[in-house]
Amino acid sequence: MKLGIVGSGIIVKEFLSIARHLKHTMILSLCCTKRSEDEARALAKEYLIGQIFTDYEEFLRSEADTVYLGLPNHLHFTYTYRALMAGKNVIVEKPFTPSIEQALVLSRTARENRLFLFEAVTTIYQPDYRRVKELLPALGSIRLVQCSYSQYSRRYDRFKNGEVLPAFDPACAGGALMDINIYNVHYTAGLFGMPESVHYFANIERGIDTSGVLLLDYGSFLCSLTGAKDCSAPNSCMIQGDKGYLIQNSPANICKGVRMVLNDGAEETVVDHSYSHRMISEFLDFEKMIFSGDLETCYRYLDHSLCVCRIQTEARRMAGIVFPAEVEEAQ
Ligand SMILES: NC(=O)c1ccc[n+]([C@@H]2O[C@H](COP(=O)([O-])OP(=O)(O)OC[C@H]3O[C@@H](n4cnc5c(N)ncnc54)[C@H](OP(=O)(O)O)[C@@H]3O)[C@@H](O)[C@H]2O)c1
Repeated sequence: MKLGIVGSGIIVKEFLSIARHLKHTMILSLCCTKRSEDEARALAKEYLIGQIFTDYEEFLRSEADTVYLGLPNHLHFTYTYRALMAGKNVIVEKPFTPSIEQALVLSRTARENRLFLFEAVTTIYQPDYRRVKELLPALGSIRLVQCSYSQYSRRYDRFKNGEVLPAFDPACAGGALMDINIYNVHYTAGLFGMPESVHYFANIERGIDTSGVLLLDYGSFLCSLTGAKDCSAPNSCMIQGDKGYLIQNSPANICKGVRMVLNDGAEETVVDHSYSHRMISEFLDFEKMIFSGDLETCYRYLDHSLCVCRIQTEARRMAGIVFPAEVEEAQ
């Protein structure tokens, strides 16, 4: 693919550090804000990127066939929509969009124009996540699922001191569910699909969830998904069935350290096939699908993103967290 990148922040820098693994990808351009132009020029020099843009429309008229958006959450919808309308494939960072209504617009636009549209979320592309799926039947009837991902954010210290950075800003579609618990939602929805009901209980400060517990009721079993940016603890995922359990001693954005223990004493430790960086596997898959024109698989992943976005939107709204971006931009 001929890739153009938008943003020059943390995730774009991480992506650039692994881009050498993509053998069928040429990075042509970087689009940044005027205030970050010097930083973007330094990145372009380091990674041999030929063109810098500070105007998004001009960037969209350039040669890239695929754009990667590493932007704050509230810009995901409009930037993706404009890129699709310009005939580009889009890889947009997680979380897909602030609301399900926006996600449906993007999905329709991509399908009508036969364009690739991916949510860059590491969870479901991890090599050993597939093995977790394969092991599920051995656990018998699933009864309980628990996923916890807590990571104390340095930005929370600044939030407590009155400074609101995008990760904690309702105007930027921030918060613990959007930022961190979303990985648990991907993990669970990727295994079990859409639940029958969704309940979100959040610690809310100044209109945003700094941590929270999301309960997904699948009728015959329950999932409790915990996400926090205001405290820390060891992170794990656990699936319990009436014939045994599976435990993963890592958060849901990677899939490492998985072990299954059955009631009859049988055990399996899943061999770790993960790459040296969590983002490599997702981008290798995007590259492969685009290279081979595999829209069908892309749209299966897109349906999964819609399911996650539906859960996230319902959860937030039930907790009273409504973003300005989801109201004004969905029209
Ligand atoms: N950080 C992580 O570990 C991580 C992991 C996975 C996914 N993500 C996702 O990646 C996205 C970005 O997160 P981040 O951590 O990289 O944030 P970040 O460090 O704040 O970077 C955001 C970037 O977007 C740029 N930007 C803002 N408005 C723009 C505009 N109108 N046009 C062009 N560029 C613009 C910012 O430029 P200025 O600095 O000039 O405003 C900055 O370079 C989020 O959706 C997040 O959920 C992040």
